[in-house]
Amino acid sequence: MQISKIPVVALEQLQNNVFLLKARSKELAEKSSPGQFFNIKVSDSYFPLLRRPFSISNVENDILTFMFDIHGEGTKLLSLKKEGDNIDLIGPLGNGFNLDDDFDTAVIVAGGLGSAPFPLLLNKLSKEKKVKSFVGGRSKPNVITWKLANVNIATDDGSIGFHGNVFQLIKKHENIFTENKCKVFACGPNPMLKALQEYCLANNINCELSTECAMACGFGICQGCPIESSDKKSPYKLVCKDGPVFNAKDILI
Ligand SMILES: Cc1cc2nc3c(=O)[nH]c(=O)nc-3n(C[C@H](O)[C@H](O)[C@H](O)COP(=O)(O)OP(=O)(O)OC[C@H]3O[C@@H](n4cnc5c(N)ncnc54)[C@H](O)[C@@H]3O)c2cc1C
Ligand code: FES
Repeated sequence: MQISKIPVVALEQLQNNVFLLKARSKELAEKSSPGQFFNIKVSDSYFPLLRRPFSISNVENDILTFMFDIHGEGTKLLSLKKEGDNIDLIGPLGNGFNLDDDFDTAVIVAGGLGSAPFPLLLNKLSKEKKVKSFVGGRSKPNVITWKLANVNIATDDGSIGFHGNVFQLIKKHENIFTENKCKVFACGPNPMLKALQEYCLANNINCELSTECAMACGFGICQGCPIESSDKKSPYKLVCKDGPVFNAKDILI
């Protein structure tokens, strides 16, 4: 567990309510893997008391990027950071995506802010792998495709791309699973993860899910982030320490 204070180099607005916070640390950039997260202290005061967890969205040279939307008090404070401020963060934390499995096509599935961890994943993916991305959102402004490749879009209201949810869109492209050796990497709302998990398990498709829950410590001490395990001998895992990325066969959503 490492606490660091690193300088903000930019706060950029990506689209309507979505921001990119960029901060410099050579050491943390080198240690960060796709799917891991940092627990960030969003203000210099004691309010809010708890840190907020954010996926590492990208790493370029010594710059770490975090993607967030303004959700509540913590993310509002984070959106006020400016160049020259320091951010206090713990991490990198948790277990991220495993890119060493045997697959030739990475199928990225993201719902809303679930796009956050994938720029770094694509950065680290071997150039021989093919990529197919499926990105969903409620409406056009909620669709985030930043630094993704080969993107298919679904919106609930049909304002851009396929009219329906991202899982329904994947079903329309399901020939990719028979024509390629795929591994699915997913992050987004629980109903999306659950539908994908059921589909992948039923069709014997390797799938990793990046899960979320409210967190306190972020590194396994407070026991505040349990998720049900599919292993009856140890019924719970901790999202912060055992995850946030789990193989679809290892958890119950
Ligand atoms: C491992 C991990 C990685 C994450 N990565 C990102 C990221 O890259 N970008 C991003 O924008 N967000 C991410 N989140 C979610 C982010 O931590 C929360 O959005 C943030 O804590 C909200 O803080 P806030 O003070 O703005 O809102 P709060 O005032 O704390 O919360 C506002 C409302 O949202 C609910 N809430 C808070 N956190 C969560 C959550 N995790 N799941 C469901 N409901 C929640 C609260 O109960 C409350 O009702 C991640 C969460 C986890 C666990
Ligand atoms: S957040 Fe404390 S154990 Fe996971």
